[in-house]
Formats: sequence, C-alpha cells, structure tokens
Amino acid sequence: MNALVLHGGAGSASNIDELNAKVNEFADIAFKEKNALDAVIKAVVLMEDEPLFNAGTGSNMRLDGSIQMDAAVMIPGNFGGVINIENVKNPVLVAKDVMLKSPHLLLAGDGAIKFARKMGYGDYDPSTEKARKKRERILEKLNNGEIPEYYHPKFFLEFLGDTVGAVARINGEFAAAVSTGGTSLTLRGRVGDSPIPGAGIYCGEKGAVVATGIGEEIIKRMLSINIYNRIGEMPLEEICKEELEKFGDIPVGIIAVDENSSCALSNANMPYAIKKY
Ligand code: GLY
Repeated sequence: MNALVLHGGAGSASNIDELNAKVNEFADIAFKEKNALDAVIKAVVLMEDEPLFNAGTGSNMRLDGSIQMDAAVMIPGNFGGVINIENVKNPVLVAKDVMLKSPHLLLAGDGAIKFARKMGYGDYDPSTEKARKKRERILEKLNNGEIPEYYHPKFFLEFLGDTVGAVARINGEFAAAVSTGGTSLTLRGRVGDSPIPGAGIYCGEKGAVVATGIGEEIIKRMLSINIYNRIGEMPLEEICKEELEKFGDIPVGIIAVDENSSCALSNANMPYAIKKY
C-alpha cells in the first residue's frame, strides 16, 4: 500500500470545510512525488505557504508579538528539526537540511536561523493580519482577567489549530514531517511537541506517526512513539483511538501510517486528507 496522510491541525477552526478542501488539494499534489520523504516535505511546504494554516506564513504570534516556528522531518534512522526559528519562509526545508546536510539533529533559535541563511534561505516575514488579530484577542482576554495567569490546557483550545503535518508510505519507505507556529497563548521560547522526536513525530521501519494539539500534553505522554511502539498489536486505527482516549477532552489529533493501513483521528475539529492506492 502507498499512502499519504495530511492534517491541518487539531483545534477549533470554524472554517473546517475550507481547510479540508485545502489539505485535499495539497495531498493530491504531494502524492505525485516519487518517494515518501519528498511527499511529506512537499505537503508541508504547501501548507506552510498557505496563510490559513498555523505554520510558515500565517504562524501564530507569541504573547510578545514574535513568531517562533518549530519543524521536523523523520525517516527510519534519521531525524532533523528546528526549534524557535524566525524569519524564514519554510522551516520544514531547514529541518530537512539539518537532517541531510548538518552533523546535528536539532538546531534552535539563533543557531537555526544562521544555519538557514548559510543554506540559502533568505530573510522572510511570516506575519499576517490573522496572527496579529489573534494575539490582540488574547491580550484583551488576559487584561480582562478572562484567562488566569496559570491557565489550564482548555484555555489553549481557542488559540490552537492549524499546525500542519504529513506521514507517508511510498514504495515501502516511511517518512513524517511537521511544522508549526505553536500556540499563541505562550511565552517567547516555548517549545511544543512538533520538533520533539517521539512526542509530535516519529518514524521507523514499522510506520510513521504525527501528532497535533496541545504540545505540552503530547510531550508528557510521548504520544507518537507510544503509538509507533504498539504497531502490530492491533489495527492501527484502534491503537490511535485508545491513545487518543487517554487525553480526555484535551484537544489532540493523530495521523499515522503502517505497512497496510493509514488513519487520521482527532477529538477536536481537524482538517485532514488520506490518499492511498
Ligand atoms: N502541537 C503544536 C504545539 O503545541 O506547538
């Protein structure tokens, strides 16, 4: 089986139909790629370039107004990621270069930006009016005392959404990729699950898994590697269902692929597309 699964973020998106149409369109384009790594990268680049999603152009702003993005790619036996990268158009391409062209697996902050420039990725402002308005709404709520200083994960829901990810199996090879502007109700320097191998992304010889939702909760449970380690125990979708149920009403989404099947599940609105033959 060849399969490509995309998601556009677990959250409270009111424009779910529009987002579903986009991820389907992008999945059709990306599935034309000849191998799994190129397919997941292509899918994520297309979503990063679409301002409707919270990745690349259109990324959320931190409370201080800055945009710090995380991205990662993984294939069996190799990984590359960037954490809190700023002012680049496609963080996932930099993550791929970390994996393929650097001796490291993860680069963060200034170092990630310098590496991106060395690799030829120019200065780019990913900010949008949508992100500015979202931040304004959050600041207003904080100032009005509608969000407590130490907030519960449920307060994230309104400010989540639209993070992107892809998993693929093509000609027997697996790959996974993720990219996010993070949640907007966060401090500068915060890191979510997306670039943490085993948390927001995992890929090995048995399959590929990507998670979306509240990063802190996903990291605590190491969601992606938990699912990966269970592959073969029962049908993939059943494994994902069981793992998802452990989150209760904390918004989380999962996409996964193994040798024979693929799935996309979420307990919140999550645009997704599954292509296979
Ligand atoms: N799941 C994306 C994040 O929490 O940053």
